[in-house]
Amino acid sequence: KEHIEKVNAFSSDQLEEVESFRIQYLGKKGVLNAFFAEFKNVPNEQKKEFGQVINELKNAAQDKVTSLKESLENSASSTAQYGDLTRPGMPYEVGSRHPISLVKNQIIDIFSRIGFNVSQGPEIEDDWHNFTALNLPEYHPARDMQDTFFVQTDPDILLRTHTSSVQVRYMENNKPPIRTISPGRVYRNEAISSRSHCFFHQVEGLYIDKGVSFADLKQTLQFFTQEMFGKSKIRLRPSYFPFTEPSAEVDVYWGLETETDYRMTKGTGWLEIMGCGMVDPNVLENCGIDSKEYTGFAFGMGIDRIALLLHQISDIRLLSENDLRFLKQFKSVL
Ligand code: PHE
Repeated sequence: KEHIEKVNAFSSDQLEEVESFRIQYLGKKGVLNAFFAEFKNVPNEQKKEFGQVINELKNAAQDKVTSLKESLENSASSTAQYGDLTRPGMPYEVGSRHPISLVKNQIIDIFSRIGFNVSQGPEIEDDWHNFTALNLPEYHPARDMQDTFFVQTDPDILLRTHTSSVQVRYMENNKPPIRTISPGRVYRNEAISSRSHCFFHQVEGLYIDKGVSFADLKQTLQFFTQEMFGKSKIRLRPSYFPFTEPSAEVDVYWGLETETDYRMTKGTGWLEIMGCGMVDPNVLENCGIDSKEYTGFAFGMGIDRIALLLHQISDIRLLSENDLRFLKQFKSVL
């Protein structure tokens, strides 16, 4: 019985050790044969019990040898096949979202809660969708506001300068009521510096229905700034865009702690975050919407600048250099 315990406790991953264990118990001069030889000397009344015990021992020893040899063979062949499976694994690098995507997703999330869907369009545009339909006919001086990259020498094909082009496409293909935001990359031929780049990202919004008013615009913007920045004190400064009338620049009151921010009108606490206005009736008509029946508002903001602001990034170029030391600081994967 002692031997049975020993057999059960035995383990080894060395083939030689398993083999000498087998010889010790099951070999010609092994423990078991010695017990079997002893059998004839055992008194008759104990023969039954003695027999049972040595049979049990024999089975235990045989099972042990077979199972150890089997697992040795398995690990030998899997080592050959897959390498050493007992080595510690390589750590997975968990990726994270780019700060532009983080901010973009946040903006989409906020507007989707008040019924805006997401629309997209091509980055290579034609003149109609980027300019003419938006009330910027050829030779309109406001075209100079947006330094345009043209594709090859064709003045009709260009890299979109804003995602208002997506709004034009959306109006052409959908009937009001329309509530859509258009996030995407845009291009302008500007000098590259820590504050501006020749490409950046925008989210533009469009709401068209019967009876949409400037008050609706202001409420929507206030909801947005509250959700996005935790600040609902905004002001609308009169401005000019060819596609909206009236037009305004939206400032958020930031309090005094970010006075040093580059866009802060010094010491006032107001921070400019987007442009907006009531869609010009000409634009609605250009896109096949009856301007006597419908009105609407539009707004547009730069994602990159909001990302710089929220994540305290000092140079816009960091956003497009793919430097892992920079990107790894943004842990969120959402
Ligand atoms: N399209 C404008 C821009 O790129 C932003 C804007 C959108 C302004 C909608 C007013 C209304 O600067």
